[in-house]
Amino acid sequence: MTPIFQTSTFVQDAIGVNKGYEYARTRNPTRDALQNNLAALENGNFGVCFSSGMAAVDAVMKLMSAGDEVISTNDLYGGSYRTFVKIFERFGMKFHFIPMQGTVEIEEKINKNTKMLWLETPTNPMLNIIDIKEICKLAKAHNLLVCVDNTFASPYLQNPLDLGADIVLHSATKYIGGHSDVIHGAVICNDEEIAKQLYFLQNGTGAVPGPQDCFLVLRGIKTLHLRMERACQNANQIAQYLTGNSNIQNVFYPGLPDHPSHTIASQQMRDFGAMVSFTLKNDTLEAASHVMENTKLFSLAESLGGVESLIGHPPTMTHGSIPRAERLAIGMTDSLIRLSVGIEDVKDLIDDLDKAFLVING
Ligand SMILES: Cc1ncc(COP(=O)(O)O)c(C=O)c1O
Repeated sequence: MTPIFQTSTFVQDAIGVNKGYEYARTRNPTRDALQNNLAALENGNFGVCFSSGMAAVDAVMKLMSAGDEVISTNDLYGGSYRTFVKIFERFGMKFHFIPMQGTVEIEEKINKNTKMLWLETPTNPMLNIIDIKEICKLAKAHNLLVCVDNTFASPYLQNPLDLGADIVLHSATKYIGGHSDVIHGAVICNDEEIAKQLYFLQNGTGAVPGPQDCFLVLRGIKTLHLRMERACQNANQIAQYLTGNSNIQNVFYPGLPDHPSHTIASQQMRDFGAMVSFTLKNDTLEAASHVMENTKLFSLAESLGGVESLIGHPPTMTHGSIPRAERLAIGMTDSLIRLSVGIEDVKDLIDDLDKAFLVING
């Protein structure tokens, strides 16, 4: 196994002569092993690790300068939205949040300051699918960078660099780590110039992961394929169960044939992922709370991508920083519940939901 190099500094042979490592913020052998592993998983040339997914987002945004503009999907992780609006806008950047289902709306927002398109697909928490290839074609025509936050799909289901993206980002806290025991982020790219800047930012900003965390992520990766296969199978069955349940208003899952982007999902993903969102016919926070407080196998918690199933309420949890009017505009109504489906026995998971729905019916 890759050793955990629990050291902050490395003995040097002479002034200016070292054995490849000087100081662990700059480079660490355990982190190097993980960076190479992540690059390979995304078919990329360079992997750059960070102490969290948000530190990875921060580094990618620091490729930009004051005055630059970014067009982002409007259905994105609330923490990314918060960083863009509350931190980077203070330093003179501008962000446009729009649906990215078609290219026309994107083209309307492009101006001489636009530098990057930022997308998540499947989106969080509405599980819309964005056509990565189409967006990348448009971006190339306008000389824009494309960054895809691939956290929800994981490299096992989707490889954005192969579809034309310049940068892929992961909260490795989720599927890549897979066991809800580590916070970690990663950026992968092919271009050497972008990689050099990212390594410079990694060292310059210093949001680096410790070697123990890198070891845990490396260990998680060994079972990524097995976990993803089982979790996707479970999610598919749960989405079908929810579709036929009388308490449910809408089910959002790209694997359902009537999902508006089912065809694109089938083309760019190897399976449809393990996240399922739904709304209740009784579209209130109270009804949603009842369901979430009465599941036993689905634990009420933020996050996703672990072996254990989680249940959460994006409007008040992960997406609490997005104003209500903006939430409602994208269909994130008050009863929206998001499931991160794990690898347990699917019959037990369905039984758990069934019992929780009984409670809301009194
Ligand atoms: C899609 C997505 N991107 C980025 C992040 C941020 O990652 P982290 O929590 O590891 O900082 C998250 C966290 O939930 C996420 O869901």
